[in-house]
Amino acid sequence: MTRLVWSDEYSVGDAEIDRQHQEIFSLIDRLDDQDMDASAMSVTFEKLDIYVREHFADEEEKMKAGAYPDLDSHMRQHDEFRDWLQSAKESFRTSDGALGAIGQNIHDFLKSWLLAHILYADQAYKGYIQKV
Ligand SMILES: [Fe+2]
Repeated sequence: MTRLVWSDEYSVGDAEIDRQHQEIFSLIDRLDDQDMDASAMSVTFEKLDIYVREHFADEEEKMKAGAYPDLDSHMRQHDEFRDWLQSAKESFRTSDGALGAIGQNIHDFLKSWLLAHILYADQAYKGYIQKV
């Protein structure tokens, strides 16, 4: 299995944001190693709640302070993820025995969304938050 390894080229030039992104990398990396059973899902949702609450807020604050011109569309992406997280938690709560398929879907979505977001969307504000 290919490990997800952090590289300096993923840096957005802000130590705190980079540290939060590294944590998400290791969360995704760990997900690859485990079955998405009920306890893995609960832990994952707890971590994602914190990620959304703290990390998105930090990013949004820094983008605002840096007058990032694409702030609105970036915040829309964050909102879409917040909505997705709510509905994923709901399907988890109401899942009855079909956890395997739901777990796999959640894992696949998380991995593709978060990686694409961190590696592309977040790279776009790089020069702006560095000015802060
Ligand atoms: Fe972001």
